[in-house]
Amino acid sequence: MKSWEDLIHPDDKTRRAEALRAHLAGKTPVYEAQFRVRAKSGEYRWIASRGKVMSRDENGAPVRMAGSNVDITERKRAEEELRESKELYRTVFENTGTATILIDENDIITMVNSKFEEYSGCSRDRIEGKMRWTDLVAPDDAEKMKAYRAARLAGAGEEEAPSEYEFRFVNKDGNVRDVFLRVAVIPGTKSTVASLLDITERKQAEKRLFEAQKMEAIGRLAGGIAHDFNNILTAIIGNLDLLKLDLPASSPHLKNIEGVHSAAMKATDLTRQLLAFGRKQIITPRPIDLNRVIIEMKTMLRRLIREDIEIQTFLGRGIPSIRADEAQVEQVILNLALNARDAMPHGGRLTIETAGVYLGEDYCSKHAYMKPGQYVMLSVTDTGAGMDQETLAHVFEPFFTTKQLGRGTGLGLSTVYGIMKQTGGSISVYSVKGEGTCFKAYFPAVEESANQPKRDEAPSGALEGRGETVLVVEDEQDVRDLVERILTRAGYKVKACSGAGEAITLCRESSESIDLLLSDVVMPDMPGSDLAEIIRSSGKIKTLFMSGYTENVIVHRNILDEGVNFINKPFSSRELLRKVREVLDS
Ligand SMILES: Nc1ncnc2c1ncn2[C@@H]1O[C@H](COP(=O)(O)OP(=O)(O)OP(=O)(O)O)[C@@H](O)[C@H]1O
Ligand SMILES: [Mg+2]
Repeated sequence: MKSWEDLIHPDDKTRRAEALRAHLAGKTPVYEAQFRVRAKSGEYRWIASRGKVMSRDENGAPVRMAGSNVDITERKRAEEELRESKELYRTVFENTGTATILIDENDIITMVNSKFEEYSGCSRDRIEGKMRWTDLVAPDDAEKMKAYRAARLAGAGEEEAPSEYEFRFVNKDGNVRDVFLRVAVIPGTKSTVASLLDITERKQAEKRLFEAQKMEAIGRLAGGIAHDFNNILTAIIGNLDLLKLDLPASSPHLKNIEGVHSAAMKATDLTRQLLAFGRKQIITPRPIDLNRVIIEMKTMLRRLIREDIEIQTFLGRGIPSIRADEAQVEQVILNLALNARDAMPHGGRLTIETAGVYLGEDYCSKHAYMKPGQYVMLSVTDTGAGMDQETLAHVFEPFFTTKQLGRGTGLGLSTVYGIMKQTGGSISVYSVKGEGTCFKAYFPAVEESANQPKRDEAPSGALEGRGETVLVVEDEQDVRDLVERILTRAGYKVKACSGAGEAITLCRESSESIDLLLSDVVMPDMPGSDLAEIIRSSGKIKTLFMSGYTENVIVHRNILDEGVNFINKPFSSRELLRKVREVLDS
């Protein structure tokens, strides 16, 4: 038969023997040891052994000893399980991916994970048992959260005590972050566990996207209105032109007509700006040297801007060309400079700067619709009044103005915004109330080098027709009638149609040759360009397109194809005649 000693687990034998020896030698007041013993079934069981020497002989050698052996296997197992589950919870707590904290009934934070240390900027031992959750909440949100918490601890439902909501978290340095919170009461206690997720970036991205979409929508609306207006204005202005021609130079009505005319021209201006914002303006982009444009504008700016404002330019050396419509670039610079002037009623400094920059993923991820790449930056900075947050949030919206009635239309910056979008760039603004404002526009850079500008030649020579036949295709009756009258008057033969189908039939059946097709770009039955193709195939006919705006084939993304003749609505009779003559003579 095996002795008791033999059944002890080999790893525990020495430990037990030493404890016993020490006690027998009188070194410890009691003998205590825990060790495993093999049971009959073959498994080891934990034994807690206790004993004490009851009497010793005159030499101190033990004579009699009493004690007990208790099977503690179950207790041991429970302890082990508890330790394991604590470890498990700690691991889960650490690795939730969110900042997690425990809060006791007195609002003290009792436990935090390392993500929370990171969020708060404080180390664990400075938080646990010391800090209150309210120390880390933006004051504006604290009251609401206290009410939720009281309700939650009182057992209220989701309505009064939502378990998920957003609030603003303030870290040790006072930085405010948007945080999503999820909180629950630990059952049977007044403690709560809360996990926090930083959603600042996401919220900002959402806001940016929302802004961009909002501007898109307003742009579409503006473009649509402007389109209809262009047709109306073409009719108004053209009819006025004709009326003027009919009246003798001494007519007292001429003054009134002038009044209507100048009002219509103002409306035309407004429409142009709306179109620019809606990115529906038809443009002719070419490679441009931005620095040259600024240099050429300097004299004009100096004239427009009061003496008490100093104008500084810092033009970057060797910066790449941009591809844009020069008139639009001028408009951007002018609008920004005029705003700067208006922001400095008591004088100051206007700085115009250019630089070549590379915008990386980082910048582009923060600006909706921007692609990483090489850009040319134009910045216009003033030392003026600056703007508050409220104003900043709306500056690019059409008709947003803080200027007195009649002073500003609020279309300046929306035009700039539209132009920058149409060029594939972007614009952003930085402003401090009372300090000044800086607008930064980014134009995509191009490889091609900029040629000297091709200025519009001043038209000369007669505007009259020489009996040529013009086929006018326009679905708006007012415009069609007007064009017909202008051309007939000037000595052209005119055939007018309201649509492409009619025009094609007319061409086929007519024995007379047609010299020029003057067609609207957008028509209900067929795009003007397709019509031109068909008509051209039946003879040598020149084409001139007219439109207020278009999303059509001759204009790709509102950019005119090379070699296409085009006239913008609304036009004056002079402009129309000049263009018609130009195309016929080309
Ligand atoms: N440089 C600036 N400094 C301070 N505020 C500015 C500046 N630029 C624009 N703003 C603010 O933005 C508003 C809108 O500007 P925007 O150019 O679109 O219209 P506006 O200048 O008011 O009118 P408009 O340009 O049509 O004559 C201005 O009324 C002004 O409040
Ligand atoms: Mg302005």
